[in-house]
Amino acid sequence: MQRYVEASASHENASRARRLLDRVVPDPVLHARFVNMLARLEYIGVRKILKSRRSERLDLNGLQHILDEAVHALRLKKAASALGGAGGVDVRTFAAGATLAGDAAENYLQALDHRAEEALVDLPEIDRAEANYLLTSAAVEVRAQVFYPMYDQTLRAHGAGFSVAAISKDEDRHLEEMTVALGAALGDWRPRLEPVLAAEEALFSRFLGALEKAAEGPNG
Ligand SMILES: [Fe+2]
Ligand SMILES: [Fe+2]
Repeated sequence: MQRYVEASASHENASRARRLLDRVVPDPVLHARFVNMLARLEYIGVRKILKSRRSERLDLNGLQHILDEAVHALRLKKAASALGGAGGVDVRTFAAGATLAGDAAENYLQALDHRAEEALVDLPEIDRAEANYLLTSAAVEVRAQVFYPMYDQTLRAHGAGFSVAAISKDEDRHLEEMTVALGAALGDWRPRLEPVLAAEEALFSRFLGALEKAAEGPNG
């Protein structure tokens, strides 16, 4: 899995994301809405896990995953609220205007989910939702392993006053768990995951485009 993280970290999207962060983090208004968008993504992640997993397949790690993603949403929401208070921007909900490119963020995850579904059409229906959970989560966790360490560096460079290191550590553990679970569920999972990762890179590029546009001009 590490080689997928490295490949994504050297993709052009990673340097675009870095430039975007350097533009957004120093601006408290843009930054508050950006962090609130991340909280929304984590929340959508929780909702997707809750919807896709059947109780008979849910173990301790599965429950922990739900809780971790909910805690990420909460931590990011608290950071967004602190920034929003300082910048005078309302980030209490995930309503339009409270997030930076929030709808594009939601579309990114929905489209990724759809792409994973397409990679699994040959599986019996009963196994598909679980396999989709594993593939989508793996692709998201690869992105998280590229994004969160970079974001944490930017936060430190700008003295932002909060850290996402603990979130990044959780995502690293989730990625390991997904790797093990993919092996158990799909055997040779690489031919399933690779087209989903390629699609994720393209979807992330589209999402970045929406973020770049939203961050244009004074306070986006
Ligand atoms: Fe997360
Ligand atoms: Fe995660």
